[in-house]
Amino acid sequence: MNDLMTKKILFVICGGVSAYKSLETIRLFRKNNAEIKTIVTKSAKEFVTPLSVASLSQGKVYDDLFSVENETEMDHIALSRWADVIIVAPATAHTISKLSQGSTEDLASTVVLASNKQVFLAPAMNVRMWQHQSTKDNLNTLKRYGYRFIGPVIGDMACGEYGEGKMSEPSDILNEILNFLSSQSKGKGIKALVTAGPTNEYIDPVRFLTNKSSGKQGYEIAKSLSRRGFDTTLISGPTNLQIDEDINLIKVETTEEMFKATQKSLPTDIAVFTAAVADYKINQKSPDKLKKQESYNIKLEQNIDILNYVSNHNSMRPKLVIGFAAETRDLDKNAKIKLRNKNCDWIIVNDVSKKNIGFESDYNEVNIHYKNNPNKKEKLSLKKKSEISEEIVDRIVNQIN
Ligand code: PMT
Repeated sequence: MNDLMTKKILFVICGGVSAYKSLETIRLFRKNNAEIKTIVTKSAKEFVTPLSVASLSQGKVYDDLFSVENETEMDHIALSRWADVIIVAPATAHTISKLSQGSTEDLASTVVLASNKQVFLAPAMNVRMWQHQSTKDNLNTLKRYGYRFIGPVIGDMACGEYGEGKMSEPSDILNEILNFLSSQSKGKGIKALVTAGPTNEYIDPVRFLTNKSSGKQGYEIAKSLSRRGFDTTLISGPTNLQIDEDINLIKVETTEEMFKATQKSLPTDIAVFTAAVADYKINQKSPDKLKKQESYNIKLEQNIDILNYVSNHNSMRPKLVIGFAAETRDLDKNAKIKLRNKNCDWIIVNDVSKKNIGFESDYNEVNIHYKNNPNKKEKLSLKKKSEISEEIVDRIVNQIN
């Protein structure tokens, strides 16, 4: 992508000396054909005028949360949905602190909080403020929420000091956004299917066999795929998780339901099987709640292996089939056996005997094994499941390109 034609950028200008750089940034984005709307905070107006912003952006400038005119034309929720990307520049220490607390004090913070799009912050502040522990804590919180940062850089500051805290140059902000948007469109026109969560197998109408899968790993993979532009379907067993509207979510409960939903979702280009599917179902489920008795004899029968079905499909095998392996010992040895037996292209193994990774945790640590390169093993060491997912999707994007 070499320009921003059809891209909608919402700039939030906050009150700092570097606000003048935002004008230049807006000019560059316009030169690259982006459609721009801008929010100017109250204190930003001490540094730049809404009139200069309007003439450079050739778009609407908003500055008031309670404006009848603005709310009838485009309310703050619609404004947050309108944008493809939100850029807060300069992001002052005050703004960073407000956003980290989910404040809705003014139009800027309300729109950012309500947004379901990627938010970039270009911080600008004095070096001591940047290095202060409270700023560091706020940054970590915002990173955890998925906000991205451009800069700051090291240099001479308006206050006369030198150090890290200068707002990034407009051309660097533009390049960062161009890279982001181009990586986002890598999956355009490509279908991806993800299974996630556990499945339940009923013994009677109120009791079932299940496992500890929370669905977190699979949901994060679906989110990463969708963010890169993949047309993503997520088939999910019972979880408490929410997912973005862009993702086609199919909720199921049993293995049979997950299998049927998977069949219906074929053909797909990529399939990632993170679900912890119950391998067995009850041979004869009781139609009524079983009465208390000393002991039960429950007969189990094997469920269909969904991954196996898809990876051996005659006519609709996806180009890339990725399985997960939940292991408690001999991780790599067992992963390689599954890679072969299940005819996957990759198998991603994680240790589910540990408390801090695997099932339920927000963190994971995985090894990736490849069918085409049996000697290659890539380790993604302990990090958040969202980050593991990004790294897996980086590899998917490389593979399909
Ligand atoms: O959901 P979380 O709490 O975030 O935890 C994530 C996770 C540990 C569940 C996930 O990272 C993971 O390891 N998923 C695979 C769990 C599993 O069932 O592994 P398995 O080794 O039993 O199965 C191997 C592969 O076959 C898996 O891709 C599984 O989805 C698939 N399978 C298994 C049985 C079956 N009947 N049908 C299948 O498709």
